[in-house]
Amino acid sequence: MKVLAFAASNSRKSINKDLIRYTSTLLPDSDVDIIDISDYEMPIYNSDLEDAHGIPEAASRFLDKIAESDALVISYAEHNGNYTAAYKNLFDWASRKNREVYQGKPIIMLSTSPGASGARSVLSLAVESAHFFAGKVMASLSVPDFFKNFDRDEGVLTNPEMVAQLEDALSPLQQA
Ligand SMILES: Cc1cc2nc3c(=O)[nH]c(=O)nc-3n(C[C@H](O)[C@H](O)[C@H](O)COP(=O)(O)O)c2cc1C
Repeated sequence: MKVLAFAASNSRKSINKDLIRYTSTLLPDSDVDIIDISDYEMPIYNSDLEDAHGIPEAASRFLDKIAESDALVISYAEHNGNYTAAYKNLFDWASRKNREVYQGKPIIMLSTSPGASGARSVLSLAVESAHFFAGKVMASLSVPDFFKNFDRDEGVLTNPEMVAQLEDALSPLQQA
């Protein structure tokens, strides 16, 4: 199975990127392609820009990556209860090319933040809206208190209960 995995964050020191890298180690039987949304940077969406220049090729490259995959694993960073501006912008441009951004793929949705909420607000937003964009959410998990539950030097989730919950969330991909 080809799994496309990414953090919905453009931060170089992103904790959601850490979570994505760790999660990929739990999918040994899959071919996991981890992308960085910073490689799909575009100007802030503006319909005037679209009218004048069309949709940037980065939006098509992102959609092609999704099209080539059998499933997605996404970890959402939360900014003020919402998507990061970087992901929202990528998503908006991509949706102008194909409103069905997730293209019917099964998705495991994750999130983490340094706080106790574990970016639960953005995760709910992503889960609840996925069907508008042809996303099939198979499971979701928010990891709270990232710095208490994750060893960044080792790149591993250290809380056994969280590891079990993550393995459980990934089980639909293992069974597929
Ligand atoms: C502008 C801004 C807004 C934020 N808002 C939230 C928030 O609403 N909820 C939350 O849990 N963390 C919030 N945070 C903290 C982020 O969870 C934290 O920066 C985290 O590292 C972001 O994920 P990333 O490292 O994967 O980019 C915010 C951070 C910034 C810079």
